[in-house]
Amino acid sequence: MKAAITPAEVDFSDPGAPAAPAYRDVYHARAGALGQARHVFLGGNGLPGRWQGRDRFVVLETGFGLGNNFLATWDAWRQDAARCERLVFVSVEKHPLRREDLARAHAGSELPGLAAQLVERWPPLTPGLHTLAFEGGRVELLLGLGDARTLLRELVLEADALYLDGFAPARNPEMWDEWLLKSLARHARPGTTVATWSINRPMRRALAALGFEVGLAPGFASKPEMTVARHAPRHQPQRPVGREPLAPRACEAVVLGAGLAGAACALALSRAGLACTVIDALAAPAQASSGNPAGLFHGTVNPDDGPHARFNRAAALATQALLAELGLPHRHGLLRLETRLARAQMQEAPGYVQALDAEAASKLAGTALTHPAWFYPGGGAVDPAAYARAMLDASGAALRLNTAVAALRETDQGWQLLDADGRVVADTPLLVLAGGHGQLALLGELAADLVVQRGQLTHLPAAPWCPAVPIAGDGYAIADGRGGLWCGATTQDGDLDPALREADQADNLARYARLAGLAQPPQAPLAGRVGWRLIAPDRLPLIGGLAAPGPRADQLRLQPRRPGLVVCSGFASRGISWAALAGRLTAALALGLPRPLEAELLDAVDPLRFALRRARRTTIAALPG
Ligand SMILES: Cc1cc2nc3c(=O)[nH]c(=O)nc-3n(C[C@H](O)[C@H](O)[C@H](O)COP(=O)(O)OP(=O)(O)OC[C@H]3O[C@@H](n4cnc5c(N)ncnc54)[C@H](O)[C@@H]3O)c2cc1C
Ligand SMILES: C[S@@+](CC[C@H](N)C(=O)[O-])C[C@H]1O[C@@H](n2cnc3c(N)ncnc32)[C@H](O)[C@@H]1O
Repeated sequence: MKAAITPAEVDFSDPGAPAAPAYRDVYHARAGALGQARHVFLGGNGLPGRWQGRDRFVVLETGFGLGNNFLATWDAWRQDAARCERLVFVSVEKHPLRREDLARAHAGSELPGLAAQLVERWPPLTPGLHTLAFEGGRVELLLGLGDARTLLRELVLEADALYLDGFAPARNPEMWDEWLLKSLARHARPGTTVATWSINRPMRRALAALGFEVGLAPGFASKPEMTVARHAPRHQPQRPVGREPLAPRACEAVVLGAGLAGAACALALSRAGLACTVIDALAAPAQASSGNPAGLFHGTVNPDDGPHARFNRAAALATQALLAELGLPHRHGLLRLETRLARAQMQEAPGYVQALDAEAASKLAGTALTHPAWFYPGGGAVDPAAYARAMLDASGAALRLNTAVAALRETDQGWQLLDADGRVVADTPLLVLAGGHGQLALLGELAADLVVQRGQLTHLPAAPWCPAVPIAGDGYAIADGRGGLWCGATTQDGDLDPALREADQADNLARYARLAGLAQPPQAPLAGRVGWRLIAPDRLPLIGGLAAPGPRADQLRLQPRRPGLVVCSGFASRGISWAALAGRLTAALALGLPRPLEAELLDAVDPLRFALRRARRTTIAALPG
């Protein structure tokens, strides 16, 4: 797979100073990692004092290494009675440790409880951003795996404090040069502070040229001095208007839709400190598409590791982490048959996906398969309605059921939701449209880009073969735990028929028979469920703001948005896989929190992407000759 991560090779021979032979340097001062973190990075940035009384505080670090700076910062936050409500620690790392090395690095930790949680939540080493939630979401580690030189340019965030910690400048100049510092400075605002143990002159000069007031402070242990700095730019560059938070001061929100999308948004927003109300037309949560009895979640793989593969992977990992955090029972592990590539062409990502030949896959599935398969150890199957309910419960959101919304009205303070008689149902500074296919009428011109697709699932009460792990190929099969299974599913665009159909059941059973290697499809009484998928043409979700009235920009990042409104929808046939990340992204876009996705992926899921592409095509067509 493109851009694979090379894990760190750590030399543990000196227990007081683990080293990176590739860089001929140690991970921290011999005098102690936590002592160094507290003196240099916390002290040098005026912490804990500077976060006191704040809603949230964002630290951005170069070089996560063993994670000692993170642990020391988290520990200081825990010890501080006046701490900020939420701490977001963002760090980039080119060579992350393997989980077993991380555990070894913290075997004698002074903070064993925190270190154990870090090791437990440590993600598979795949490129991109990973969110690790601690303290019920009040402390988040946004870990970017990849080269800081490219990743920092892809981050969308404003940091309050910068920790510069990328091995000695002489040994690793790429972490300290003007390019890198300029990438970091893009995430600073007036008052953002910097600290590092280094007093490297070119680094200090570059910081000064980037608008920082640079000073010296007493260093840690044997180092007499260290660098501290504060951003005080003469000119503050204009931030791209399309990346401005949509409701930065909102303390409350209304979420339309109590399915997977709405539940995930309510959870992320309430974790960010907002009081949420979830409104739904139906009598209970997760009764529309999210009311299926079972569904799969997993990432995807493609050799180019393009936006689809990266988004799906980030989303599936977020789902896996959230299911574990919520303690929701689900089936672990998923097999996806590969019908185009031979086993030799399949490259795996350790810990995330394994490439199996037909024989190994058959063993896992418990039947003879003719194709190789991808095995997603962190993927699996879950009851989507139970998942949505668990997110709603954890959010503490107020539920307003049996409340259909027919129209929206923009006001000076935000948005009003109106019923069919024009009565105001709710008033809110932040409205999240997470109503699946049921809210099409509220989406304006965006609706024209979307397809509503019917799908029928089949329940087979006594199955001749039940896969030991959920399996997907041409169709899928999920054991129901009682000797039967769910298989499916059909796809019919624009078909709104809610009735179960014999012909669709026959299709599902024929696909099941092919998966199972049966000569004949089994016979079964008509049983199953019909639902609808809301699908964008490129099969990615729609998460972001809608266009403000006025001329259209030619780049998404420059497009002004309607304040106080976020769409989180278009979950296609991947609502289970996408909800956790989509909810978190919705909260970040609304409130201006560090975005959990790289800029390129923010654009890939932006609801305005189709309108922009159309506008570009029109402009090109209008060009002379
Ligand atoms: C047959 C089938 C199989 C599938 N299998 C899988 C699978 O294996 N894995 C997977 O990840 N995904 C699967 N999906 C897709 C998944 O079910 C959806 O992506 C997901 O449920 C969408 O969630 P949602 O919250 O966006 O929409 P919904 O679950 O439809 O929720 C939207 C809610 O908004 C409410 N609402 C809408 N408009 C209004 C309004 N105007 N006023 C008040 N309330 C409103 C609705 O009542 C509804 O409760 C499948 C879908 C189908 C149809
Ligand atoms: C001194 S260690 C960081 C120690 C860490 N902050 C801690 O608290 O344990 C420096 C880290 O920078 C990482 N690094 C080096 N070059 C990098 C690059 N170009 N991009 C991202 N990380 C890099 C190294 O792999 C190493 O883990």
